[in-house]
Amino acid sequence: MRFFIPTRIIFGSGSLKRVDEVAREVCGSTKGFLITDSGVHEAGILAPVLRCFPDMPVFDGVEPNPRHETVNRAAEEVRSFKPDFILGIGGGSALDAAKAAAMLASNPGNIEDYEGKGKYKNLPLPFIAVPTTCGTGSEVTWVSVITHTERKFKMSIKGPEMFPAAALIDPDLLLTLPRRLIASTGLDALTHAVEAYTVKPATPFTDVFARRALELIFNSLEEACTDIQHNIQARKGVMLGSTMAGIAFGNSDVGAVHCIAESVGSLYDTPHGVANSVFLPFVMEYNMPEVEGRYADIARIAGIQEEDNGTAAKALIEKIRQISRKLEIPSFRDLGIPESAFSEIAQKSFINNSNPSNPRLLEEKDYLELLNIAYKSFS
Ligand SMILES: [Fe+2]
Repeated sequence: MRFFIPTRIIFGSGSLKRVDEVAREVCGSTKGFLITDSGVHEAGILAPVLRCFPDMPVFDGVEPNPRHETVNRAAEEVRSFKPDFILGIGGGSALDAAKAAAMLASNPGNIEDYEGKGKYKNLPLPFIAVPTTCGTGSEVTWVSVITHTERKFKMSIKGPEMFPAAALIDPDLLLTLPRRLIASTGLDALTHAVEAYTVKPATPFTDVFARRALELIFNSLEEACTDIQHNIQARKGVMLGSTMAGIAFGNSDVGAVHCIAESVGSLYDTPHGVANSVFLPFVMEYNMPEVEGRYADIARIAGIQEEDNGTAAKALIEKIRQISRKLEIPSFRDLGIPESAFSEIAQKSFINNSNPSNPRLLEEKDYLELLNIAYKSFS
């Protein structure tokens, strides 16, 4: 059994204003290169950062489901500037792109040359991650997920040296996040916690983080979506829950929900959190015979009082469906994915690296059946 989290975590409202202190403390330098997306730039989040680092170059071209060409372009700019560290600010896409660029800064070639675990020779540049959504977990994980657009496949590039050197987590960055993104990224975090707690590689260490993350997310997500401006406890709760869920799945794994969400995302650019929330209840129903007791644990964390494990687990799945409906997450049919694509989605889900971690075995045909069940359901 192993548990590893080398990332220094700085958590608190207003902590982004201290980014220069963190850079000096962690990287011994203020010569950084900033990677972000245009939404973060337009939301005005960068203002305090650029006050600390007036001359820092900014690459703000990261798109949702970041593409390999974008990462390679960012890496070229990084290599010519020769910074001492990379600063990534944004949701999972910006952080994953920045993490990948930090590795490419000290290694030759393109990101697609490094698909898999520990393929790089040289140590990546130190990376400071600043999440602006409440779902990614990327600020505390070693993996960067990048879409190879020609293969229409999400590559995982990872290694123990790719953990961010520091995660600067400021719940106030959620103040400008639209409600629909709080909802979808929060449900991504919930999926991380549910999967981290139920996959085969779960350990007593990851259980601690997953259970606390579940408690925080169940207690704060709906309130965060209702009034992010005035509810500081909800802001802190979803942000802390998201990071703790990241630590949990980073050390155990995710399962079949992510296998499907990543496949759908690589083919149709479906937002990751939306895809996860659509498929989470259906995968839970499929997994029930293997992990009913674990779902019952989660049900109790969510405040469901049923004594019988099977009844509690079913009530949990219904509760998760209700939360998704309340937060206006679309159904599978609303995603615009034709039935003709199901076999390709099933095939990509089956070969996903995380498929073997799912608590119940899924063959390609099982994924196909699951997609058909989800499509026919009107929940
Ligand atoms: Fe995720």
